[in-house]
Parts: sequence; structure tokens; C-alpha cells
Amino acid sequence: MTDTSGTPLLVVDDVAVHFGGVKAVDGISFEIAEGSITGIIGPNGSGKSTLIAALTRFVPLTRGALTFDGVDLHRLRASDIARHGIARTFQTVRLLPDLTVEENVRLGADVSKDRRGAPERVASALEATGLTEVRRSYPGELSYGTQRRVEIARAVAMAPRLLLLDEPTAGMNQGERTEITGLMKQLSADGLTQLLVEHDVQMMLDACDHLVAMAAGRLITNGNPADVVRHPGVREAYLGRKWGADARA
Ligand SMILES: Nc1ncnc2c1ncn2[C@@H]1O[C@H](COP(=O)(O)OP(=O)(O)O)[C@@H](O)[C@H]1O
Ligand SMILES: [Mg+2]
Repeated sequence: MTDTSGTPLLVVDDVAVHFGGVKAVDGISFEIAEGSITGIIGPNGSGKSTLIAALTRFVPLTRGALTFDGVDLHRLRASDIARHGIARTFQTVRLLPDLTVEENVRLGADVSKDRRGAPERVASALEATGLTEVRRSYPGELSYGTQRRVEIARAVAMAPRLLLLDEPTAGMNQGERTEITGLMKQLSADGLTQLLVEHDVQMMLDACDHLVAMAAGRLITNGNPADVVRHPGVREAYLGRKWGADARA
């Protein structure tokens, strides 16, 4: 649910991340309202994953500032980001194959300062993601879509205030994608703020309260999802590509 009247949970202010001569992110500014789902779209190489990496302090900023809940993220160590309430999933599945679903999710719950509350966080994350039934299974026994849900559950078990999802539906079929959209909306209704990177424009329209469009490290436009996908600069960035679900490379 968007509450644009409140103080933003995250302020991205003129952020740049350069790798030598590569300007992966080059002057991006936008805000994320508490409880909202914000999407980032843009062709491959736009700098979407680099921006996510900057938010978890995985890469240093070349310029600009990231302010999360009033705290300058630059002042935190990368190892403190999760405890400050920012959790992420990766573009590829990164589960430990020798641990059960429940044990994988427990790894997320243990990141929080409140260790005693971990079992409850695991149980509610499994419940929220519909994984209670398969909690004793091993990742290799599950479909790809379900493995991705375990990743989301692990991040949710950290009890974050901001969840970063980098292409959570990559490799999923339409049904699984719809399922993830439903899950995200449910988490949003529970008050969890989310930042989502996806290529599937229809999914972004369905899931997001706010859209940010990037190309070549720069912001094209940001705002209401329907307006953003109609923006001529956004269409131009995708020129020569099929518009929609098949835009993924
Ligand atoms: N660690 C890195 N070192 C050098 N270049 C990088 C690094 N990470 C990303 N890049 C480059 O930055 C640009 C943006 O990449 P990325 O953030 O992965 O884009 P997206 O997620 O939008 O596809 C690309 O040109 C990519 O090759
Ligand atoms: Mg990426």
C-alpha cells in the first residue's frame, strides 16, 4: 500500500557506481515509500543489479547517498546491513543443498539480533510463503519455483524492513510468476516494503505501486507504473525487443 504522504523509507540521491570506466549506475535518484512495492525495469546492463548491490553495501558508491530510515548507509559496514533491516534475494538460487528448507530459512532468522525469536520467525516465514508442508524437504527435491520461494522465505525470516528482490521469477513459468506476485502483494499488505527487479512488464504493472525505469545507468523516468511503461523513453530503451514477458534476455 503506497503512503506517499509519510517520510520515505529509502532515499536514493544522485547515486553513481562506476567500475573503472564503466558507469554501471550514473546519477540515479528516487524514493521508496514505506509499505510500497517499487519496481525497477530496464534492459540488461542498465545497472539494476548494481544498484541492489549498492543498497547492501556490496559495492561502494562513487557518488551520491543512500538514506534508509534516516540512516546514511555509507556509515554502516556491509555486515551490518542485514541487521539494519535490509534483506535481499539473488538473481540465481543460492540455497545450501545439504540443509532442509526449514534449516535454510533458519539461516535468515539467525541474522537478526533477536535470536530467541528465530523459531517463530522461521515458522511465520514458512507460513507466509506457503512452504510449511515442504519444510523438511531438501532444495534439490523441489521445483525451481519452490526453491525461489525458499529464498524469499529466508529473506523474510530476517524480519527486514526492506526486501530487495533481484529477478525472483527468472526461469519461472507464468503460473509461478503469478504466484510470486500474489506473495509479494500479501507481504506488502503485512507492511513489508519491497524493491523488485523484473523484466516482465505485465508482472510489474500487477505488482508495483511505483516504477523506476533505467537504461545505461541513468534514470529514464519514475512514477505511476502505467505512466512509466507508456513513457516514450522507456519504449525506446526496449526498441527492437519484444515488449512484455519475453523482454528478458
Ligand atoms: N563488478 C563489476 N565490474 C565491472 N563491471 C561491472 C560489474 N558489475 C556490473 N558491471 C557492469 O555494469 C553494467 C550494469 O550491470 P548490471 O548492474 O548487472 O545491470 P542489470 O542488472 O541492469 O542487467 C554492465 O555493463 C556490467 O557489465
Ligand atoms: Mg541484473
